[in-house]
Amino acid sequence: MTYNIKNNLDKEIIYFDNAATSWPKPDNVIKEIKNYLENIGGSPGRSGHKMSINASRVLEDARESVSKIFNGIDTSRIIFTKNVTEAINVCLFSLLEPGHHVITSSVEHNSVMRPLRYLESSGASISKINCFTDGCIDPDDIKKSIKRKTKLIVLTHANNVTGTILPIKEVALIALERNIPLLIDCAQTAGSILIDIDLSKFNNCILAFTGHKSLFGPTGTGGMCIGDNIDISPLIYGGTGSKSDEDIQPNFYPDKLESGTINISGLVGLKGGIDFINDKGIAIIRRHEEKLVKMFIKKMSQIENVTIYGPKDPKKQVGIISFNLKDISSSEVGFFLDKKYNIMSRIGLHCNPNAHETIGTFPSGTVRFGFSYFNSLKQIEYSISALKEILNGKESSN
Ligand SMILES: Cc1ncc(COP(=O)(O)O)c(C=O)c1O
Repeated sequence: MTYNIKNNLDKEIIYFDNAATSWPKPDNVIKEIKNYLENIGGSPGRSGHKMSINASRVLEDARESVSKIFNGIDTSRIIFTKNVTEAINVCLFSLLEPGHHVITSSVEHNSVMRPLRYLESSGASISKINCFTDGCIDPDDIKKSIKRKTKLIVLTHANNVTGTILPIKEVALIALERNIPLLIDCAQTAGSILIDIDLSKFNNCILAFTGHKSLFGPTGTGGMCIGDNIDISPLIYGGTGSKSDEDIQPNFYPDKLESGTINISGLVGLKGGIDFINDKGIAIIRRHEEKLVKMFIKKMSQIENVTIYGPKDPKKQVGIISFNLKDISSSEVGFFLDKKYNIMSRIGLHCNPNAHETIGTFPSGTVRFGFSYFNSLKQIEYSISALKEILNGKESSN
C-alpha cells in the first residue's frame, strides 16, 4: 500500500516541522537518488568494475558538496554517518574517558546529553553551563568552567527549541586558545546559516551535521568534519574496501570511521540538497527564513494570550519558533493544527528537556514551528488565523 499524503487531503499541506526533518525536498534530491538507483548501482570502493568506480565517484562528489558548506574542508576529513546523533556519539566516546571533564550547555539535545550522562556514569564529569531564558550563553561562563581535566567542550550551534544561535565563534576562540577540542552540533544550522568556523584555522573543532534537515537530504544521512588537530577513534570496526589484506582497522580518514557499506543512495540525495542550497545561495535562503520568522513574531506578538519563547529576533535565531497559547496544551494545539488546518508542527519537549527547563516550559513543552525555504508568507498568515481560531475556541466549528 502506498501512503500519498497529497492524494489523501484536499487542502494544501502547510509543513512547519522542518526542524524535525525538512519537506518537501528539492527535485534535485529525488533526481540524484533515482539516477543512482537506476544508472549507477554499485558499491563504492569495493570492486574494480565500472559500476563500483562510478559509485566511488558520486560518493566523492557528495563529499565535495559537503565541503562547500563547511568552508572548503579537506574532503578526507569529512566522515559520513547515518545522522548527527551517530557523529556526536562517535566523538564523545572517542574523546572522553573516566576522569575527564567536559563542558556543555543547558540547551543541548538528548543526542548530546544522553551519551554524556552515560559517560558520566562511568567516571567522566560534566559542567552544564546555564543559558539565559532566551537560549543564549555567555562564552565567559564557559571560559570560567575550564579545568585542568577539561578534555572537551560540546555545544549546539542553534538549539532546536527556540532556534537561538549561540556565539560559537567566541567559544571556538576560547577552545583554540586553551587547546581543547570543541564539538559543535550543527544539526539546526548546516544549510540554513553560514557556518563561520574555518577548520583550517579552528583545527581543534569538529562540526557535526545531519543531512535531512536544512541540508535537504534524505533521512539516514549526516556526518562530521574533523579539524586537523583532532583524532577520533572508531566506535564501529569492519570492512572499508581498503587494506583488505589486513584484519585490523585502517588508520586513515575517512575509512577509519566509515566501516560497512555506506548509505550511498542517501548521500547522492544529500549532494542534490546541498547543490540546491549552493545554487540558490545560502544568504538568500537565510533571508527568506528571516522574513518568515519576522512576520510570525510580529503578528503573534499582537495577539493576547500568546507566549513566544527565545530571542524574538530573526537575526538571532534560525527558522524555529516555540510558543504557547494561553492555557491550551501544546498537544491540543498541535492536534487541531494538523486535523483541521493541515498544518504540521511539533509539540512537547522536542527531545530536549534541558532546553525546556532553561526557558521555563518543562514539563509541558511548547508548540514548535520550523520554517524552510519552501514556506511562504501566505502560509504564515494562514497559520496565524488558525492559531487565533484555536485560541478563541473556534477550532471545532466548520
Ligand atoms: C540540535 C539537534 N541536535 C541533534 C539532533 C539529532 O538529529 P538526528 O536525529 O538527525 O541525529 C537534532 C534533531 O532534532 C537537533 O535539533
